[in-house]
Amino acid sequence: MRRSIVAGNWKMHGSREAVADFCKALRRAPLGAELDVLVFPPVAYLGEFVAGVGDAGVAVGAQDLHPAAQGAHTGEVSAAMIADLGGRWVLTGHSERRSEQGESDALVAAKFGAALGAGLRPILCVGETLAQRRAGEAEAVVAGQVQAVIEAVGVDGVAQGAVAYEPIWAIGTGETAAPDEAAAMHGLIRETIGAADAALAGSVRVIYGGSVNPHNAAALFSEPDIDGGLIGGASLQAESFLAIVAAA
Ligand code: 13P
Repeated sequence: MRRSIVAGNWKMHGSREAVADFCKALRRAPLGAELDVLVFPPVAYLGEFVAGVGDAGVAVGAQDLHPAAQGAHTGEVSAAMIADLGGRWVLTGHSERRSEQGESDALVAAKFGAALGAGLRPILCVGETLAQRRAGEAEAVVAGQVQAVIEAVGVDGVAQGAVAYEPIWAIGTGETAAPDEAAAMHGLIRETIGAADAALAGSVRVIYGGSVNPHNAAALFSEPDIDGGLIGGASLQAESFLAIVAAA
């Protein structure tokens, strides 16, 4: 397995034109063979993105999925549909879904399991609010979010995907966690995994998200416990995304 991941989460941004331009830039760029480069466009553009990147060495994923295989769930998308469109990865439990859609740890765990069942590689997003951090609860919150998925799919299941630590106070705020502060939480995530299986603690990939940009990426990625990044705003332009890929 490749060690580092640089993933772009476009959230609800983009257009067919933006996808075409971005893919063109990716096809021209030299991408490191040691690195998983992933992009999560809106699901509406997933198929087009897959076709657009071609064999540029970029994998494409969805930002969310429904835990059921199919059924009467208007507006939802299943893991098998994502795979059918050429998606290989999927985000689960992004903080914007936890807060805007009220997704619980149990639902996130069910989604993570459904993704594995369809052969997708899920990324479990975890992170605390500023209030939780100030109250000294960050460790308990994040460990609990990881533990819920370990209980549902086992620690081997978690290891088939990856974990993204995204402190909510750092998302879209321009306020990045200090590299040592992020690394400490990554260490905690590994300890939580290690309590279930010590051998897997070191091999699970744990990436950081929250205001990563071309200027701060190298310092974050130089921490041994930080295996790459999940990039929001700075992934929308190919130039800044590729600069972060280069930093990894
Ligand atoms: P920003 O990089 O815009 O802070 O977003 C981070 C994020 O939420 C990625 O999933």
